[in-house]
Amino acid sequence: MHPPTQLDGLLHGATPFLALAPMQDVTDGAFCTLIHQYGGADVYWTEYFRVQEDSVPEKRIIEHLRQNTTGRPVIAQMIGNDIPALVRTAKVLQRLPVAAIDLNLGCPAPVVYRKRAGGGLLREVEQVDAILGALRDAIDIRFTVKTRLGFASVEEFDRLLPIFATHALDALTVHARTVKQMYTLPVHYERIRQASAALRCPVIANGHVCSAAQAQDVLTRTNARGLMIGRAAIRSPWIFNQIRQQLRGAPVTLPTGRDLWRYIRALWDSQAGANRPEKVQCARMKKFMNYLGEGLPAPFLYRIRRAETAAEFNRICEDFLDHDQPMALEPLEEGAWTGRPAGDVMSQGRAVRDSSSAISDW
Ligand SMILES: Cc1cc2nc3c(=O)[nH]c(=O)nc-3n(C[C@H](O)[C@H](O)[C@H](O)COP(=O)(O)O)c2cc1C
Repeated sequence: MHPPTQLDGLLHGATPFLALAPMQDVTDGAFCTLIHQYGGADVYWTEYFRVQEDSVPEKRIIEHLRQNTTGRPVIAQMIGNDIPALVRTAKVLQRLPVAAIDLNLGCPAPVVYRKRAGGGLLREVEQVDAILGALRDAIDIRFTVKTRLGFASVEEFDRLLPIFATHALDALTVHARTVKQMYTLPVHYERIRQASAALRCPVIANGHVCSAAQAQDVLTRTNARGLMIGRAAIRSPWIFNQIRQQLRGAPVTLPTGRDLWRYIRALWDSQAGANRPEKVQCARMKKFMNYLGEGLPAPFLYRIRRAETAAEFNRICEDFLDHDQPMALEPLEEGAWTGRPAGDVMSQGRAVRDSSSAISDW
């Protein structure tokens, strides 16, 4: 028996906890530090460590773990399918300041799933079973899994759940889409409820939570112990505190245009590498602005995507954000969350933007 950890307190505490989703090339140490300054999540995930036969854990992500400035637990995520390599890497990672080791069973990028990793593993339930068994035996600290519902069909989840139940996981995050769905709607929240009912471990709900009201609704509909937020946290670092306000019945505070402008400047500073040319820094910022711009009226995104200097970037922000009006910062496009329960799925609207292009390689 291990003594209870800070993470255990969250997983088994009285109130739902909030996690920042792992996002490759986004949720590095600098981004987590910044998010934390706005209230932040209760628990953070690293981007995934790529695990292959001869891989060594990426130094950059190890630095994130060593320099965790948030004071909150950080979970190290791995992606791969080679059992000896996964075991070897887990043993290295668990000696670092990590709260748990997590296995990625959801990455939908074809370059990943064609190599039978991430979401690709969901087509091979026996291999999932073998990997989870080997990792559970090898990992002395907490062991968690982040999964999608299946590869091509949500019905596959019925076969996956008994496997998750067998391996004494410490938590399961369910991104309630299939791999083939990528980032399109609907999100099948009723399947998260199914997991909450079937598993002894805490279940964390994930997928397209864009506002505090929606967060509360998803928690109710899924009976999940916690909520994981990804893209909405890039768009609005205020979302974690807003959800806390919503859950305790307090009025939800909205940021103003100028608050958002200040956040964009802070993001710029946090991502500014030493001697990075301005054009390269603008390109780096666009990675974040692609998500942020979804919550802003056109032609903000159109213009920002074409900006190549800090001055241009700032001028566009000034044109749109130099005001004190409150801003919801939810995706404006059709098909986004409406606040109306539509059966147990979220919305039947058209596809949202496909985020897979952000995931480059494995
Ligand atoms: C840019 C980007 C990178 C991602 N990288 C990872 C990753 O490294 N590991 C992982 O498990 N999921 C990754 N995801 C998926 C998210 O963790 C999350 O499951 C997904 O975005 C749905 O949550 P959301 O609707 O709150 O964004 C990534 C998503 C995005 C948009």
